[in-house]
Amino acid sequence: MNILVVGNGGREHALAWKLSQSPRAERVFVAPGNAGTATDAENVPLGPGEPDQLIQFARQNHVKLAVVGPEAPLAEGLVDRFVEAGIRGFGPSKAAAELEGSKVFCKQTLRQADVPTADYRTFTNAKDALAYLNDREDVPVVVKADGLAAGKGVIVCANRAEAVAAVEKIGLERAFGPAGDRIIIEERLDGQEASVLALTDGQTIVTLQPAQDHKPAYDGDTGPNTGGMGAYCPAPLVDDAMLSWIEEHVLVPTVHAMKRARRPFRGVLYAGLMMTNQGPKVLEYNVRFGDPECQPLLMRLNTDLLDLLEAVATGKLAETGPLQWDPRPAVCVVMASEGYPGSYAKGHPIRGLDEAAKLPNVKVFHAGTVLDAQGRVVTAGGRVLNVTALGESIALAKRNAYEGVKCIRWDGAWCRKDIADKAIG
Ligand code: AMP
Ligand code: GLY
Repeated sequence: MNILVVGNGGREHALAWKLSQSPRAERVFVAPGNAGTATDAENVPLGPGEPDQLIQFARQNHVKLAVVGPEAPLAEGLVDRFVEAGIRGFGPSKAAAELEGSKVFCKQTLRQADVPTADYRTFTNAKDALAYLNDREDVPVVVKADGLAAGKGVIVCANRAEAVAAVEKIGLERAFGPAGDRIIIEERLDGQEASVLALTDGQTIVTLQPAQDHKPAYDGDTGPNTGGMGAYCPAPLVDDAMLSWIEEHVLVPTVHAMKRARRPFRGVLYAGLMMTNQGPKVLEYNVRFGDPECQPLLMRLNTDLLDLLEAVATGKLAETGPLQWDPRPAVCVVMASEGYPGSYAKGHPIRGLDEAAKLPNVKVFHAGTVLDAQGRVVTAGGRVLNVTALGESIALAKRNAYEGVKCIRWDGAWCRKDIADKAIG
């Protein structure tokens, strides 16, 4: 069976790599892909914003399953387009993707479903939001733009002055354009964060092993927020009992609420959780695999991913047995370009990939890479490589991942040195 993965990050490389291992997979295409997917699959020079061309390509190449990786094309309805064209699509419909595409919709759904989340207020203009901030006690809050803002629309504030600046940025300066038409001001929660992802066909829910991301750029969780500088799985912070609790009190009521709202959710539901003293609370939902959480998750997954994603797309998830996992933990270290998450240069040749590929238990997923005219692998993004490794313990998986990192060099390459330390203690 031929498969098309849409996207070009580390998540899509990991998806294509894992899907290729299925005995039922014939050709795995990635549109547009990166230098890593060019090796582990076949790249197609089409972007997620070209639905007509993607459908035409899928038809001509007998694609039976299209897997959409990133949130933007999901929010635009790319899966609906594939399905209308008679091609199975893995991922939520446009209506269901609103769970990530609109934070206001997400909060309303959480409230209706009685899922624990931070208290919040919604505003449709900056003036009312500013008046609200001035009228209440000066407490830490989080200010959020409603719509998709490439992960930058959430501003965590220590005090009123910062919150006022955040509202002005979103509502008056319109830093995120129409994504800031509505503004959420919510209670700031304290605790460690965890990512709990589940596959669902709208009926059955299969929860994946818990993972933890590292959003701040620098060691010790300092510096600006990023798309994620590393991840590991499982996250001991969420033990089996806690995972069952989250399934029962977070995932199940959300999936039911989406069904009641006539927006049945099919795909991966990713709960970003804050583990507070009062228990887990949902910070946000994503409607796709996390990047980089997907990389260590798929390193550990022994079940055939093609079978699973197809079961989700066809509503047959109840027929799949329990998931099989490699008992060894996995750690993923993101190697980034100098300057990231600010501006950075592209086009630096990357050396040492062959050496890293020889290490046992290490897989280097590509995120921001391309092949240049001479066929060399060069940097093409802020997050460049995701060096992912298995090990007998989290500490050993960490050591293996950093062994991989040590092999690889380019001008300005850097990474956090403390990925997974929270789990090592
Ligand atoms: P989101 O895009 O909603 O996941 O927010 C990005 C990041 O902002 C989260 O991973 C948290 O680190 C932080 N965040 C969001 N909401 C809150 C909150 N209510 N309290 C504390 N931190 C938050
Ligand atoms: N790793 C965070 C995200 O994928 O949104």
